[in-house]
Amino acid sequence: MASSSCIITIDGPAGTGKSTVARLLADRLGMDCLDTGSLYRAVSVLALETGTDPEDGPALATLARDVDLRFDWTQDPPAMYIGDRDVSSRIRDLDVSSVVSPVARQPELRSVLNEVQRTVAKRRPRLVTEGRDQGSVVFPDADVRFFLDAEEEIRTQRRSLQMARRGDKVDDDAIRTDIRRRDEIDRSRATAPLVQPEGSILVDSTHLTLEEVVDCMADHVERIMHTTQGES
Ligand code: DC
Repeated sequence: MASSSCIITIDGPAGTGKSTVARLLADRLGMDCLDTGSLYRAVSVLALETGTDPEDGPALATLARDVDLRFDWTQDPPAMYIGDRDVSSRIRDLDVSSVVSPVARQPELRSVLNEVQRTVAKRRPRLVTEGRDQGSVVFPDADVRFFLDAEEEIRTQRRSLQMARRGDKVDDDAIRTDIRRRDEIDRSRATAPLVQPEGSILVDSTHLTLEEVVDCMADHVERIMHTTQGES
C-alpha cells in the first residue's frame, strides 16, 4: 500500500476482539493502531484518584484538558501515559472498568477526547483506530470504516477465555451481565451512541477466527484503496 495518509476505523460492542483485530490489521498493513477506549479509561483513573463524580462531564473535561494524555508509540501495543506516568496496566483494573461507561457518556469529555484522537491522526496519519464512534463521529470521512459485531454468547465466551488466560477469576454470568450492561449504556447514550455508521462495512465475527476477520478486513481495504487510487 502507498505510504500516504489512510484512516481505517473499527467500531463495535464490547467483546468482539476489536483491539486485537485492530492491532493485527495495523501490523499487516504497516500502520499505527489507536485504542480510543484507553483514553476514556485514563480519564476514569484520574476521576477515581481525584474523587470526581463519573457523571460530572464539565469536571471530567477539565481533568482531561489539564493533563497530557499521550501514547508511547515505540511500544507495541502503544503504552498509555498520563504525563510521565505509564497507566497501561492500571486502566485495565476492575475499578476502572466499572466507572468507564458513565465517564464515556459525558458529552463535554467526549469532545475533548475527540480532539485528542484527531490530533493523534494528524501526527500518525496511517492509522487503524478502534472504539465506538470512530466511523460515525470522529472520522466520518475515514478511508475505510468497519463495524465489528458478534453474538452476545460468543463475546461472553471470548472475554471469559481472555480473563482465564490472564489468570483472573472467571464467572461467565457476571461477564455476560457486564457485557449486556455496557452494550446497553453504549447504545442508548445521547451523545455518540454505538451505531453501525451508514456506509460502513459490517463484519460479523461470530463464526470467524481472528485470522479470518483480519483477512476479510485486509481484503476490503486492498479493494477499496485500489479502487480509490484508480479513480484519482
Ligand atoms: O473498548 P473499551 O472497553 O476499552 O472501552 C472503554 C469504555 O469507553 C466503554 O464503555 C466504551 C467507551 N468508549 C467510547 O465510548 N468511545 C470510544 N471511542 C471508545 C470507548
